[in-house]
Formats: sequence, C-alpha cells, structure tokens
Amino acid sequence: MKKIAAMILSSMMAVSFVSGCSNGKTGASVTTDDDSKVLIMGTSADYKPFEFIDTAVSSEIIGFDVDLANYIAEELGYELEVRDMDFNSLLTALQTDKVDIVLAGMTPTEERKEVVDFSDIYFTAKNVVITTTDSGIESLEDINGKVLGAQTGSIQQTAVEEMQESGLDVTLETRERMPNLIQEILSGRIDGVVIEDMVTANYLEANDNLKIADVLEEADNGSAIALPKGSDLTEQINEIIAEMKENGKMDELVNKWFNE
Ligand code: ARG
Repeated sequence: MKKIAAMILSSMMAVSFVSGCSNGKTGASVTTDDDSKVLIMGTSADYKPFEFIDTAVSSEIIGFDVDLANYIAEELGYELEVRDMDFNSLLTALQTDKVDIVLAGMTPTEERKEVVDFSDIYFTAKNVVITTTDSGIESLEDINGKVLGAQTGSIQQTAVEEMQESGLDVTLETRERMPNLIQEILSGRIDGVVIEDMVTANYLEANDNLKIADVLEEADNGSAIALPKGSDLTEQINEIIAEMKENGKMDELVNKWFNE
C-alpha cells in the first residue's frame, strides 16, 4: 500500500513539474479519502423503539431513528456511524463537533434552538405519566405529594419543573437513562415517570403492575434532527424528510417500529 501511495505521489509531483505549476500548489485535485465520508450520529440508546439495543440479539443500536438516519446518510452519500451517550450530553457533543447530527426523539424547543439548529419535525408524541396500577394517580391533582421522575435534560424534566412552578407539590427525581427511571418505580423509590406515550409499550408489556395515566394537558412533542448551528446539511435533510413523507418511506418506517 505504502509503495503504491508513494508511486502515486511521485507521479503527481512529476505531473505538476511537467505542467509547470507556478502557483505554489501541487496542481493536483485528487482527493484520496473521498470514499470515507462518515456522518456521525449521536443518540441516547435508551428509548425503544426510537433507539435501543436489543441485548438478547446483539450490541448494535437499532430503531426508528437509526433507520431514518441511515436513509438520510445514504441519500447524502455518507456512511452512518452511531454513537451512544447520555441524552443530556447530546447537544454539547454536537456543539463540540464530536457528532455531526443528533437523532434521539429530540424535541425542538426554544431553549435548544439557541445552541443548535433543528430539521423539520418527523414524528410526534405526547407526554404521559407511567406509574403503578395502585399509585392512585388518575388526574393531575393526584400528583400532589408524589415523586415524579424524568430523564435528565429532557423536556419531561422541564414538564415536572413547570408543575412545581404552577404550585403542585411534586418532587422531581432525574436519572440519565430511561430504564433506570422505570426501575425506580418498580422498586418504589419514585411514584411515576413523565415519559412520551410512544416509548411506554415495552415497559407495559414487561410489567403487569404498570399503567399509563394520561393526565397532562400539553401540546404534542415533535421529534427533529439536531445539527450544529448554521449547518448546510439542515436544508438538504429537510428535503429528504419531505421526500420520505411523499414517497411513503416515512410511513414504512413508522409502521415498522411503532405499529407491531
Ligand atoms: N422528546 C424528549 C426531549 O426531547 C425526550 C427524548 C428522549 N430521548 C432519548 N433518546 N432518551 O426531551
């Protein structure tokens, strides 16, 4: 390999000699690494079916967001690489160039828009409370005196903080990872978790003693792709999302991951 590279290099130099390159450049427009275009996606793989690891099968991160990102990457001519981290670290990773895009069922909020750009919304979900069947949580007032959990840095954390501001007597507990929160309900340390309805199915299936309390009156949460501020990929990605909504690809992925 080295020999070949050296040969190519010397022939390039020869060419620029012959062509009498006087501008100080080598005169070569050859890029040697154009087949290594990698798009790095950051995610928090604790959010089935958006992104998760099916540990029984492999250690690979799979899900709706991963399929979506793979489709987009392919359209853009990139190879996708997926990196798992805590949800709360994702925007910093984007701002410090550790990742190129973030897909994590992330909702574009005004606060987040101050530090990153978002694509158009590709999916919507709604906040509910997941709790034990005997918690007595049937309405918003029942939350008085309760401990509610939420993922650190999520809009669900903000939702609980807003409950507190509105005068509800609720204690907030945060954890970095979603399954840890559910574990805390099961072990009785917290009464319920504010969570998006679209990610509750596997917890309900696995635990007979959990239920959904649909007690929050809020607008739906959209999911969008986060990108570094000013990224020229945003517009291209919006075009691809629009195309996918048109050509049925988006519905196909939604059906695959959300309507089993
Ligand atoms: N939509 C919510 C938010 O943006 C929760 C997303 C959590 N995502 C995850 N992969 N754990 O705050």
